[in-house]
Amino acid sequence: MQLRKHTLAATAVLGLALAGTAFADPAEDTLEVTTDDGVITLVTTAPAPDHLKDVFDTIWSGWHFRDDTTRDMQRDDFDNPSMVFVDRGLDSWNEAQGKGGESCAGCHQGPETMAGLRAVTPRVDAKTGKLMIVEDYINSCVTERMGLEPWGVTGNKMKDMLSLISLQSRGMVQNVAIDGPAAPFWEQGKEIYYTRYGQLEMSCANCHEDNYGKYIRSDHLSQGQVNGFPLYRLKDAGMVTAQQRFVGCVRDTRAETFKAGGPEFKALELYVASRGNGLSIEGVGVRH
Ligand code: HEC
Ligand code: HEC
Repeated sequence: MQLRKHTLAATAVLGLALAGTAFADPAEDTLEVTTDDGVITLVTTAPAPDHLKDVFDTIWSGWHFRDDTTRDMQRDDFDNPSMVFVDRGLDSWNEAQGKGGESCAGCHQGPETMAGLRAVTPRVDAKTGKLMIVEDYINSCVTERMGLEPWGVTGNKMKDMLSLISLQSRGMVQNVAIDGPAAPFWEQGKEIYYTRYGQLEMSCANCHEDNYGKYIRSDHLSQGQVNGFPLYRLKDAGMVTAQQRFVGCVRDTRAETFKAGGPEFKALELYVASRGNGLSIEGVGVRH
């Protein structure tokens, strides 16, 4: 009885929030980016991956749901505000900041040696069996190989480095594994995705699956993909990671949120990434 009442309440709230709101298709547009090395075309829409076939025909990057001005900022690295943070990441990469004077560059050479990693993470580390996001890999070197305290998972040092490393995979197609050792984490992430949280009792799916294309508080709802992360958010005038975005979205449902970088949101990132398998990593996106 109690349960049923709650469900009705949730539906009513969501109905209210979205009642009479406009719907618009994702913008018909192509993302060609002018970089130092020439123009590259990113895959921002693709057929849905197999595990999502009964839900969507087509998946879309969040880029398609932003206005013209915001989309334009991602067409040229010169206009992309994220590049300031990428540059800071490169300085940090080259700096001898370890206890014994180690630098990332000293062991890894150029950042281009990181190409591909962002497209296949979150992934289960073969050696430890742990689910790893890029932040975890960075911190394992910071602590175990440089003798430092771990960097805050949403701190500036981490976000600068994450931006630099993600950019190395720009244009590569997101392709996270969901089977084998990844399967239990993927199932956990999927369960979180469909669970209704908070006073508003809304799940990720209520907004990003059932209602994408609609406007909520003048925001054009996307499918909530993570291929564009980390990204520069105009509203925050800074970089936002996928983990941070999850915290923000759950807070918006007036729920207690899981911790950024914690096991629940890492599993969720794996699941959400798998919903975007087939889209290009944007390296560093721009959103409003
Ligand atoms: C003392 C040498 C050393 C230093 C210094 C070091 N790393 Fe590493 N790093 C490694 C080794 C060794 C691995 C494991 C490589 C492997 O398993 O293939 C690794 C793995 C990684 C990975 C995972 C790569 C992959 O493809 O799986 C990332 C990301 C990374 N390091 C980033 C950094 C960053 C960022 C810094 C500087 C803050 C840094 N590392 C400093 C030696 C180092
Ligand atoms: C009440 C509706 C609502 C719920 C519930 C919600 N979100 Fe969102 N989310 C938004 C809005 C609004 C935005 C900003 C516009 C957009 O990109 O959809 C957003 C943006 C995002 C983005 C950024 C997409 C991009 O390309 O910039 C991701 C990723 C995301 N949400 C994931 C999630 C996940 C995962 C959950 C569940 C934990 C969730 N959201 C729950 C409303 C919601």
